[in-house]
Amino acid sequence: MPTDSPQFIDSPQSLLAFDRRPSSHPDLESVLITEEELKARIAQLGAEISRDYADKDPLLVCVLKGAVYFMTDLTRAISTPLTFDFMAVSSYGDAHKSSGVVRIIKDLNESMTDRHVIIIEDILDTGLTLKYLARNFHGRGAASIAIATLLLKEGMQAAALDVQYVGFTIPNAFVVGYGLDYAQHYRNLPYIGVLKPELYNK
Ligand code: IMP
Ligand code: MG
Repeated sequence: MPTDSPQFIDSPQSLLAFDRRPSSHPDLESVLITEEELKARIAQLGAEISRDYADKDPLLVCVLKGAVYFMTDLTRAISTPLTFDFMAVSSYGDAHKSSGVVRIIKDLNESMTDRHVIIIEDILDTGLTLKYLARNFHGRGAASIAIATLLLKEGMQAAALDVQYVGFTIPNAFVVGYGLDYAQHYRNLPYIGVLKPELYNK
């Protein structure tokens, strides 16, 4: 792990040492992040972004569909002017492992030229998706590009990417809820939980 970044690994938001709490959902092994914890952390991120981008009128780009709840809650926690737009890419299919292939399924309506762009992601796993998007956005003339991810998987590629905002560092488990899916399901859970491995190890 390089020492200059990522600075959040030792932050209080790291859930690596946390006890996982039991879940009443039959498909979940445990609850990792509750609704209240999500709300409190997103309020902090919103305050940080409000401060960092006070006079920049940033363009927040939500990567569909996983980041949709994070986007709607985060933008409401930001008090300074901004615009937002949506983009859909595919890097996963219905499997639980990254394919490494990124395809743009829905592109932006807004121009990125000279805008301060913040890419809003649900989770950073291999980092392949974000790496591709950051490169692609540089080519479109963005004034600056930052990354805000709700979740960062332990030991993953944050150092190789310039990730400015991280909600929580989580253990290397497959998680669902609050936008995150397995085979398109579980997105609507209001909290984040660990899916029972037997559900995808079939
Ligand atoms: P990456 O390109 O490997 O960083 O993959 C990023 C994308 O994979 C995320 O935006 C998610 O859509 C998906 N993904 C990675 N890990 C998980 C997980 O634990 N649960 C649900 N989706 C995941
Ligand atoms: Mg995603």
